Amino acid sequence: MKVLLVLYDGGKAAEEEPRLLGTIQNKLGIADWLKEQGHELVATADKEGEGSEFKKHIVDAEVLITTPFHPGYLTKEVMQTAKNLKICITAGVGSDHVDLNAANERNITVAEVSGSNVVSVAEHVVMSILLLVRNYTPAHEQIIGGGWDVAPMARHSFDLEDKVVGTVGAGRIGYRVLQRLTPFDCKELLYFDYAPLPEQAAKAINVRRVESLEEMVSQCDIVTVNCPLHEKTKGLFNKELISKMKPGAWLVNTARGAICDAQAVADAVNSGHLGGYAGDVWNVQPAPKDHPWRSMKHPLGGGNGMVPHMSGTTIDAQLRYAEGTKTILQNYLTGKAQDPANLIVENGDYVSKAYGKRDTKAEERKEEVRTD
Ligand code: NAI
Repeated sequence: MKVLLVLYDGGKAAEEEPRLLGTIQNKLGIADWLKEQGHELVATADKEGEGSEFKKHIVDAEVLITTPFHPGYLTKEVMQTAKNLKICITAGVGSDHVDLNAANERNITVAEVSGSNVVSVAEHVVMSILLLVRNYTPAHEQIIGGGWDVAPMARHSFDLEDKVVGTVGAGRIGYRVLQRLTPFDCKELLYFDYAPLPEQAAKAINVRRVESLEEMVSQCDIVTVNCPLHEKTKGLFNKELISKMKPGAWLVNTARGAICDAQAVADAVNSGHLGGYAGDVWNVQPAPKDHPWRSMKHPLGGGNGMVPHMSGTTIDAQLRYAEGTKTILQNYLTGKAQDPANLIVENGDYVSKAYGKRDTKAEERKEEVRTD
């Protein structure tokens, strides 16, 4: 059996730090284990273009393992060339790099390591909210640059206390973000999600559900995006929706870059309509040098909290998603049923309820508690 791993190149850092498991150097820690069983393993970071290693090896791979941090994009066209492909495993959370409808047509299973990095992302979201609201980044840059000028930094610095915060998507990450915000005494915590939170979970953090997204964003000082990328969320934060946000509101997106219209966000930050935008996910990864999110800036300075895709790939997270990937692979190899919580699509249908409201078996699964 051929297993294709598409991971990022960790270079010297991965040679020095073996716990950087999500790299082609350290291969999720499964290389020896697979070889001992006589399987072929190909690991590559070369994923773009017709002549790439990804396109070359997907043709006869039975298993594709890739990561949202450096995704091998499995489009319908690429899938058509993948004659032996049976299962795609996401080393992490978020399987939008696979055309899930096409996977269903081909009866390819898509599984991810649910929950493996949700705390890592939730912590990053809270950090991003704070660094935008407190105007941290330009103040830090001023210090590094040898300066000392309090007023221009303080004029765009606020307290998180008494602000309204809303999440788009209140699943594992969205819920954990709200949970972590409760000690900050925000004015109100809101959520928009077609799947309501269990009553007890909502009560525990005193969060109010808002039925319409437009209505929610118009009430928020801070909006955090925590839903998967699918047909209904692609380009969701466009010029029109952003115009409904309060002037000066902050937007944090660690879900997927393509949920936001890149130019609309940059224009809103540059004009000052948004107080700032932060996140780690980009509509193309790696992001091109001239991506507008690299250079956008609030008229008062700052307002840009962008980093490379890293929130869900802390060392702790890598250990968890590497272990989870191995378990999914082991289940596949031994014919054992997968944990339903890890399944996105299987047997030609959606198992996960998180990739849009649809008339599938997933909709009938009432037992799943998404805040587990
Ligand atoms: P989850 O499946 O537990 O929760 C997702 C929630 O979004 C569900 O409650 C679902 O009903 C809701 N949702 C789906 N479509 C929606 C829509 N149109 N409007 C409002 N809500 C909607 O997933 P989890 O673990 O919370 O992860 C969410 C996403 O975060 C992942 O799909 C992935 O894209 C992203 N992520 C990013 C990481 C990073 O490193 N930046 C790491 C892990 C996840």
